[in-house]
Amino acid sequence: MKALVLVGGFGTRLRPLTLSVPKPLVDFANKPMIVHQIEALKAIGVTEVVLAINYQPEVMLNFLKEFETKLGIKITCSQETEPLGTAGPLALARDKLLDESGEPFFVLNSDVISEYPLKEMIEFHKGHGGEASIMVTKVDEPSKYGVVVMDESSGQVDKFVEKPKLFVGNKINAGIYLLNPSVLDRIELRPTSIEKEVFPKIAAEKKLFAMVLPGFWMDIGQPRDYITGLRLYLDSLRKKSSSKLATGSHIVGNVLVDETAKIGEGCLIGPDVAIGPGCVVEPGVRLSRCTVMRGVRIKKHACISSSIIGWHSTVGQWARVENMTILGEDVHVSDEIYSNGGVVLPHKEIKSSILKPEIVM
Ligand code: GDD
Ligand code: MG
Repeated sequence: MKALVLVGGFGTRLRPLTLSVPKPLVDFANKPMIVHQIEALKAIGVTEVVLAINYQPEVMLNFLKEFETKLGIKITCSQETEPLGTAGPLALARDKLLDESGEPFFVLNSDVISEYPLKEMIEFHKGHGGEASIMVTKVDEPSKYGVVVMDESSGQVDKFVEKPKLFVGNKINAGIYLLNPSVLDRIELRPTSIEKEVFPKIAAEKKLFAMVLPGFWMDIGQPRDYITGLRLYLDSLRKKSSSKLATGSHIVGNVLVDETAKIGEGCLIGPDVAIGPGCVVEPGVRLSRCTVMRGVRIKKHACISSSIIGWHSTVGQWARVENMTILGEDVHVSDEIYSNGGVVLPHKEIKSSILKPEIVM
């Protein structure tokens, strides 16, 4: 079985992290986002993943070469010379996706995180006999997603409306599809949107079916959602394999600590924290609801909450970093600094406090 991941775009909403790497390579829970997806695909028997990409393909390929052998899965790139949207890339990768088996293939948005119930999805797809299956989930604010109106019992989709201005329902497209090869015959090689141009047509022909996704789901393409996504991911890890979570008197709630990270005496860590490989957390540090990426040093008595600390940054002693502060790669925050929602570009030194949410160039 094959799969295509829509890697695409510039990931502007996740800057400054995406100034260093393409969005799918941004770490989430100590692993690049895309590795979560590739592992899930591999687990259900996918043998080849095609990355549909229009930005920094060398970076992706170099990185993923290592994973091809580690995970035992073929990873190839299908590179656009102009952005082809969410459907055009499927037409471009047509020859890679089709094979003699005539099997359906998976398509994934690269910025969604869930328990990836892909096995269940294959069963669902076989059961309804339509042309395409999509995963849906309920959200409180459906207007920023693709909304699906469906028959509850059969899953048959009545209507698919991308980013509706008026309320049509609260079940939204989760960005995980299983498509028959025939769907490719509906897509031309030009910039097109699968949500606006392809799904509405398949739905009108009653051949589009939706399965309500069991478990959690989050589009982590924006900082606030990324931080919420980490909470949901760690909750689910607690239920499924709690042995992966940290324990000890210095830990509160769900915390993931890479085995190569060092944590000093008298720290208090959690809930909902991920600490990446090679990090050094000095004594007396307080961390909650945050991600600390590979190679970061947090100096004595610093306090970080609701923030993301990019690769190889340092946070000075007695610093206080909070309220959706996002430090890009290799940012250095001096001692005793306060950051209230600062968004800091890579390789900066912060020597005076950031008192209100702003971008520091
Ligand atoms: N190759 C390629 N080329 N990929 C692209 C392009 C492109 O031109 N444009 C976007 N993508 C990729 C993005 O990187 C992402 O993985 C996916 O396609 C969806 O694009 P987003 O920009 O993240 O869309 P969205 O989040 O506003 O909406 C989509 O996702 C929602 C769920 O998170 C839609 O699919 C909605 O219907 C859905 O509800
Ligand atoms: Mg998105």
